[in-house]
Amino acid sequence: MTGATGGIGGAIARALHARGARLVLTGRRERQLAELRASLGEERVELVPLDLAEPDGPARLAEAAGALDVLVANAALPASGRVEDFTPDEIDRALNVNLRAPIQLTRAVLPGMLERGSGHIVLVSSLAGKVATLRSAVYSATKFGLRGFAAGLREDAQQSGIGVTVIFPGFVSDAGFFAESGVKLPRWVGTRTPEQVAAAVVRGIEQERAELDVAPLGLKVGTRLAELAPVTAARVQRRLGSERIADDLSEAQRDKR
Ligand SMILES: NC(=O)c1ccc[n+]([C@@H]2O[C@H](COP(=O)([O-])OP(=O)(O)OC[C@H]3O[C@@H](n4cnc5c(N)ncnc54)[C@H](OP(=O)(O)O)[C@@H]3O)[C@@H](O)[C@H]2O)c1
Repeated sequence: MTGATGGIGGAIARALHARGARLVLTGRRERQLAELRASLGEERVELVPLDLAEPDGPARLAEAAGALDVLVANAALPASGRVEDFTPDEIDRALNVNLRAPIQLTRAVLPGMLERGSGHIVLVSSLAGKVATLRSAVYSATKFGLRGFAAGLREDAQQSGIGVTVIFPGFVSDAGFFAESGVKLPRWVGTRTPEQVAAAVVRGIEQERAELDVAPLGLKVGTRLAELAPVTAARVQRRLGSERIADDLSEAQRDKR
């Protein structure tokens, strides 16, 4: 799985390890990877530290990992802010880590899964992959992209024994790039924990679910309505003060570009 050193990735790794999985964990930060392996008890854990933004990063990871039963593509940058405030390199990095790497990794592991007639691809998107909000243009482009990729892949993989799950978390508390930003949400916007996202990953694999939202009911319903009427929903969000939150978030996450 990718993004194991992050807030949500650690929870996913612990949940899969607890189910008996043998893990290949990746991220750039070697110390965090080693600490995660130590916390898991060293057994059934292989570490492959590398940079997925590098052109050959996904291919090197796929080669090091070998045959996989499950790919969990979880690594991502928050990529928040106005597009004109990004450098061209920052845009490339967001596209590479959030969208190109999951597609390239899938391409690399799929032939083995097809040959064995089993396997599962899990792509961690976001509710921002269903509805875009202020300052989310680049991030949403990548997260909408994952949903489109998964939908096509799912069709192509029909009858092959390969499952495709997309996870759509809303705001996640306790750990991860939203929690780290320190930005406060209005009380009526609820959050979910990294462990709840991890539980959805396990459910997606075990129950072969196509798409799973991980958010309080109000946010799920709001997202569904916004998918149906995006312009009206955006107007309502602005009235509710979403611009200040979006600006605070992109300022706090600027160093993660
Ligand atoms: N946090 C939320 O509220 C939230 C909400 C919706 C969806 N999500 C999604 O959940 C997933 C995990 O997010 P998170 O909150 O756990 O973020 P996070 O704590 O910032 O973790 C991001 C992970 O991605 C890895 N990564 C970033 N750049 C990389 C690169 N160039 N090469 C390799 N790995 C790289 C990081 O590892 P290194 O830094 O060690 O490289 C880290 O493990 C993402 O897909 C995110 O879009 C999060």
